[in-house]
Amino acid sequence: MAYVIGEPCVDVMDRACVEECPVDCIYEGGRSLYIQPDECVDCGACVPACPVDAIYFEDDLPAQMGEHLADNAAFFADPLPGQEAALGSPGGAATLGPLGVDTPLVARLPRRVG
Ligand code: F3S
Ligand code: F3S
Repeated sequence: MAYVIGEPCVDVMDRACVEECPVDCIYEGGRSLYIQPDECVDCGACVPACPVDAIYFEDDLPAQMGEHLADNAAFFADPLPGQEAALGSPGGAATLGPLGVDTPLVARLPRRVG
C-alpha cells in the first residue's frame, strides 16, 4: 500500500510535499512528482502540504485519478523515455534530483494553462 500523486500535480509541482516526507520517496519528473510505492511508509504527512489536493492513499483515490495508482508505480517499474533501465527503488529523491521525464500517461495529458 502507498500514497499516490494524481493529476492535480501535473504542471503545478508545488513540491511542498517533498519537504514533509520523512523517507524522501517523492521523486520529480518533468511535469509531475511521483511517490515510490515501495519506499512510502504511509505516514500521510505529505497530504495536507499539497495546495491542490493531489495526494491520496491508494484506497481513497478518486475514481477519475484511478489510473495514477499504476502510473506512479510505473514511473519506477518501467524504463522512462530515453532510459535503458527502470529506476526501481533509488532510496532517496534528493540525491537523484529532477528527472525531467514523465510516464506516458502524464506526458500525454493536455498542458495545464493559467
Ligand atoms: Fe505536486 Fe502537490 Fe507535491 S502539487 S509536488 S503533489 S505538493
Ligand atoms: Fe512520504 Fe507521503 Fe509516503 S510523506 S512516506 S510519500 S505518505
